[in-house]
Amino acid sequence: MNFEYQNPTRIIFGAGNLSRLGEVAGGYGKKALLVTGGGSVKRSGVFGRAVASLTAAGIAYAECTGVEPNPRITSVARGAEIARKEGCDMIIALGGGSVMDASKVISAATLYDGDPWDMILHGQEHVYVPTEALPVITVPTLAATGSEANCGAVITNEETKVKSFIQIPLLYPKAAIVDPELTVSVPKDQTAYGVCDLITHVTEAYFNGSGTTPIQDRFAEGVILTAMEWGPKAIADGNDLAARTQIQWSALVALNGWVNVGTNAPYPVHMMEHTVSAYHDITHAAGLSIINPAWMRFAARTNTAKFVQFAERIFGLKATATDDLACALEGIDRFEQFLRSIDCPTRFSELGIDDALFETYATDTLKIVNDGQGNLPGIPVMSVADMVGIFRSAL
Ligand SMILES: [Fe+2]
Repeated sequence: MNFEYQNPTRIIFGAGNLSRLGEVAGGYGKKALLVTGGGSVKRSGVFGRAVASLTAAGIAYAECTGVEPNPRITSVARGAEIARKEGCDMIIALGGGSVMDASKVISAATLYDGDPWDMILHGQEHVYVPTEALPVITVPTLAATGSEANCGAVITNEETKVKSFIQIPLLYPKAAIVDPELTVSVPKDQTAYGVCDLITHVTEAYFNGSGTTPIQDRFAEGVILTAMEWGPKAIADGNDLAARTQIQWSALVALNGWVNVGTNAPYPVHMMEHTVSAYHDITHAAGLSIINPAWMRFAARTNTAKFVQFAERIFGLKATATDDLACALEGIDRFEQFLRSIDCPTRFSELGIDDALFETYATDTLKIVNDGQGNLPGIPVMSVADMVGIFRSAL
């Protein structure tokens, strides 16, 4: 283990904290670009409450609405343009992962004259790594991506069908106002997808990490068990604030770096899913829910001991030995059953996706990230044929 860890995002957590938005924003600027998605924040009244808090604190605002579920680089460019024209000196993201991701990139794009796509990793490198950005405040309205307190953002180029990311310390939000009350109106399916996404964030590092991080393993298992216990409660009754609170906190800690620190893990399931959703514009976690169990069955054959640990600690199964593949696979079956129990899809056919582009997803994924030898990093590394086999097993 050899690492440096710093997450500077100030986290203000708990029901009712939306009312503090104006006071918090006053510490970072005078005029905010308020970024939102498809309009649910307006229908739920959250937008009105946010604006009331800003206005009471003397903070002006301009709006960038309509950020898509898979946020597009054109929306980033549009937001940056509004921020420049309106003279905004900070960005407030009021929405889910896509709104927060777009907001982070807008914060840097506002101060950059070139094409914002230059900042997104493609072909293994950034054309331009930003060095300055406006301060960002995140106000998540969905428990899922953990984007509120990390420095990553995933953006889609709809023209080239490339979905890739930027992850640099500059993009850590200054503050995250994490108010579980804002998630009570999230519908059942989106709540379930959030649970699937957050669990996948920790399984990636759990199964693809260095293998020398026993504390991190226990943290990850704690997140998975908590999400599996409280997730179904939040899905069954959206107004269960205790369940909403546990899921929101789980989503944040799953990807603010602390659970995964020292693992140095790549995220192969996310890399494959991003490529699939670049072509089909499916919900991120619907893609994860299909690909993750399929990937697990592939990976368990080489990394059996870790999957046995997962089966034993998460599902209470009892293995005969650390190489007990049957036990490892039984744990994966149980995990897939959990995903089905919360109505997440586990086969491509459920989304109407056939095998026509399987090879394209695989080769495109390698264009974003590869190990220099034509394989996708992970345990084990994956060739195009391996990825196609995984996709095919999930048809
Ligand atoms: Fe994710």
